[in-house]
Amino acid sequence: MTQTLTQSIQVQVTPGGALSGTCRVPGDKSISHRALILGALADGESVVRGLLDAGDTRATRHVMQALGVTIEPDDSGALVIQGRGLAGLHPPKAPLDCGHAGTAIRLLAGVLTGQSFASVLDGSAQLRRRPMRRVVDPLRQMGAQIADTDGRAPLRITGALLRGIAYRMPVASAQVKSALLLAGLRASGPTAVIEPGPARDHTERMLRAMGADVEIADACCVTLIPPERLRPLDLRVPGDFSSAAFVLVAALLAGSGEVTIEGVGVNPTRTGLLDILASMGADIRLTNERDVAGEPVADLVACRAALRGTLIEGDRVVRTIDEFPALMIAALQAEGVTEVRGAAELRVKETDRIAVMAAELRKLGAAIDERPDGFVIAGPQRLTGAVVDGHDDHRVAMALALAGLLADGPTTITDARCIEDSFPGFVETLHALGARIEEVAGE
Ligand code: S3P
Repeated sequence: MTQTLTQSIQVQVTPGGALSGTCRVPGDKSISHRALILGALADGESVVRGLLDAGDTRATRHVMQALGVTIEPDDSGALVIQGRGLAGLHPPKAPLDCGHAGTAIRLLAGVLTGQSFASVLDGSAQLRRRPMRRVVDPLRQMGAQIADTDGRAPLRITGALLRGIAYRMPVASAQVKSALLLAGLRASGPTAVIEPGPARDHTERMLRAMGADVEIADACCVTLIPPERLRPLDLRVPGDFSSAAFVLVAALLAGSGEVTIEGVGVNPTRTGLLDILASMGADIRLTNERDVAGEPVADLVACRAALRGTLIEGDRVVRTIDEFPALMIAALQAEGVTEVRGAAELRVKETDRIAVMAAELRKLGAAIDERPDGFVIAGPQRLTGAVVDGHDDHRVAMALALAGLLADGPTTITDARCIEDSFPGFVETLHALGARIEEVAGE
């Protein structure tokens, strides 16, 4: 796919700022992707407030527009999606560019296999390195006609008639589960997905809110009965817990004040980090708990805490999967050993997050014991400021910025434009809370 040349961005961090105050984080990325896709498949007009406007979700929005869906803001700033129904998307004129967004390409593979036209799903060089057989194989079992490129993107899809299957997922993945449920919308007969662990359930919640029959048995088997139609959405997207995680960890480790993050999604399939930090000795309070359009939401209140190391394995891993880069920084400051097991999925995210985080943190003087499926960190460790590389991975770049807040001397994170993929305003948010952090144009 074509890449636009844009100037690189660096983030510069100086230690010592005490964090306090109140902030919000942008809308949840997972829910935003799903709102754009499912809103497009509804009968009628969906209204979505607080949708994440960031690199990853803009890619999904552009793909849906290329499939003939009108998506425009109204006067209040809400996004209005003119749903075209389950069979109403238009054939695209060109390959569909999902940018860096793994969620976009995998969920859209599920949608497009059941349409009556051909399409090509593609993305950035980074996305082309990520494994796609995990969705392609079960979709083929449903009757999908998909040609992959050595197990990766581009994916060439020919529309086909699908049949529902029962599929036992080898790894707990919400993207795979969601792809199958989205394909199941157009299949003959029910589609059932059996999960080895509690992967995020936003697709199931949203489908139910749109009137679809989604049954959940024993918390690990999701069955969708194909609906005639989906009702449009009227949704306010909660703040992204995965973005809030960076602010939370910064508040726990830096300075002395109290930090409140308002309006954060606290769906239990996402909040493994809260349980882990509590077991490490953190005091994070949930206040103002409420339900917003089928998703639990709360304000999170955190202040500096002395942390101790812990063991993380089992179901907590999938409920924390995007938070491990931030958690590594907490582990470096905790007293004792933190060990993560059963997290090999970290190696197939935007980057190999175990290898990349270990390599960059070593530049700051950290000692990290890499394991094939996790890592071991003995803390507390003293960090020294240095120049580190964000590797065009938003969560790596943000985690390194947190490390910089704790190091002796200044730290520069290069290749940090990617922060905009999920958390536009990250630097401004931490700066407003008192951190000494700024964004500068790179060479
Ligand atoms: C996501 C699922 C997770 C997560 C990703 C977003 C989603 O990926 O890491 O950031 O929105 O469904 P996997 O499904 O690969 O675990």
